[in-house]
Amino acid sequence: MCGIVGYIGTDNAAIILERFLKSLEYRGYDSAGIAVYDNIKGQLNIKKTIGTINNLSEEITKNLKGSLGISHTRWATHGKITKENAHPQTSSNNKITIVHNGIVENYLDLKAKMIAKGYTFTSETDSEVIANLIDSHLDKNDINEALKIVLSEITGSSTIVGISSEDPNSIFVLKKGNSGGLVISENEKGEKIISSDPSIISDFASSYRYLVDSEIAILSSNTTNFVQEASKPESRLINITANTMINDDSVYQFKMEEEIFSQKKALERLISKKDSLIFKKLDNSKIEFKKVERILIIGMGSSFHAGLLGSSYFEAVSSIKSETINASEFIETKKVIGPEDLVIGVTQSGETAETIKGLEFAKIKEAQTIAVVEKDTSQASIISDTTINISSGPEFAVASTKTFTSSVVSLLLMSIKIAEKRNIVIKNLKELLENIGMLPSKVGSILSDISSIKSLSRKLHNQEHILYLGRGLLYPIALEGALKMKEVCYIHAEAYTAGEMKHGVNALIGDDMPSIVLAPKGSTHAKMLSTVNEITAREGRVIGLVSEKDLEITPLLSEHLTIESYHPLVDPILFVLPLQLISLYCSLRLKINPDRPRNLAKTVTVE
Ligand code: G6P
Repeated sequence: MCGIVGYIGTDNAAIILERFLKSLEYRGYDSAGIAVYDNIKGQLNIKKTIGTINNLSEEITKNLKGSLGISHTRWATHGKITKENAHPQTSSNNKITIVHNGIVENYLDLKAKMIAKGYTFTSETDSEVIANLIDSHLDKNDINEALKIVLSEITGSSTIVGISSEDPNSIFVLKKGNSGGLVISENEKGEKIISSDPSIISDFASSYRYLVDSEIAILSSNTTNFVQEASKPESRLINITANTMINDDSVYQFKMEEEIFSQKKALERLISKKDSLIFKKLDNSKIEFKKVERILIIGMGSSFHAGLLGSSYFEAVSSIKSETINASEFIETKKVIGPEDLVIGVTQSGETAETIKGLEFAKIKEAQTIAVVEKDTSQASIISDTTINISSGPEFAVASTKTFTSSVVSLLLMSIKIAEKRNIVIKNLKELLENIGMLPSKVGSILSDISSIKSLSRKLHNQEHILYLGRGLLYPIALEGALKMKEVCYIHAEAYTAGEMKHGVNALIGDDMPSIVLAPKGSTHAKMLSTVNEITAREGRVIGLVSEKDLEITPLLSEHLTIESYHPLVDPILFVLPLQLISLYCSLRLKINPDRPRNLAKTVTVE
């Protein structure tokens, strides 16, 4: 991982590739590289760097001439962040040059075979194995056959884009498995772009075609030849519609800040269009809701936390058994899954490898599947029976904020529709819908008065450890708050159900371990009061997010923020906002760029 761009045209390829690679920066990377074929000198020039693409600027303008090239941003998986491990990777005789997203799971076996055949390796990557493997088949086969053989030899999911020295005016592309997207697009001038992310080509062309598992194509300036093509290729041609949800006039310095403050608008859009975006979508879907006995939700990171709330909604609103499982554990837990299960993959990018794998597994087990995504044409959508678009608009900061709240609200709205489809009468439906309807204005009012949140951040940013405690539906919010703190502040933050404190966590209470408790009024309030008492009795410092006029818990707190409470199913969405903002402002105080935290990537296409 993380980003691939290829170009064939008439302009300077390096400059074009640099521009597109920059649009991929948001996905996160630690090194980059470009290979451009100079057809005057008849040579392929490769430049690589650790760090950002900017480090290649001089090479791009001075030393990379030609109108065909491939490029890559790497987020290290196999091997350290070094120039040698950056892509493009070449075969040891320099005949095959590739860039690669994904993981070749059997690379050690294949590498041993290549070494036995006399190939040498200069990197620690699994990708270099692919380059040598392709080359090893060229003595008895043409490139088409060689690529077919390689596709059958490598295991795991991979997208590969490369150039062969025997035909340097072409680019070959191949896709194995479903993780990591790859699209090819041509504009009116006949220029072609190959990209791992279709969202970056909206200014380039009006359509693209995405590749699916086991497809292989060879592109040159005049033709695109599919060596292997899955059936119904026309269904994979997508028209690009201008994205009206990107805010070009942002007043914010950071994307994370912009995305947090755009949550009112995002939720307004989703809730006002809930009939077409969610209710009709489920009505018209091929999912047989009456057949469903259990809803399993899978996701990673913030999407996993959104799923935890989703399961509570499906139980409470749709009266159906539901469970959320971290997608990376879904297959390992050896669950009995069958046609009576509905598996919902929550993934804003629609590309997260574990979630894709989980959805594929669900399909094998004949479960019905829904993808809850921000990107409609993502891998998760392609492989699922139905897609729900959370309609938040694209998110660029690594740490999810607006896609988290939009996923949660989408799942809540889905629970209402699924109840109807199963003839379940929802108690107090009118009140629930009214509260959902009021959500954007409540979000707006929290986001419009942030002075106390900023002052709390001043007191927290130097902490080394923080505990986040919640109960019931506030527990996933505690998890999400702690995740934000880890992601953008590098502060050790842990979330626990408050009930767990007495069973070990209390031992951590001390001067250097403040607790943030989420304590709205309602069914969990009395127990939360006990938790706070138990922490303060041990000299622990407690910061609380409490409902208005809480005269019981507030006096015990060293600091508190007040969140007006309205409805037990809807309020958790409000409680996450101050936690997002606390992390953002701590991050800024710590002089960390919240949009690009160290070691993390936005779109994680490898397991
Ligand atoms: C990465 C991102 C997180 C995100 C997670 C799941 O770890 O940094 O912000 O929550 O992936 O991403 P998804 O696209 O599947 O929602």
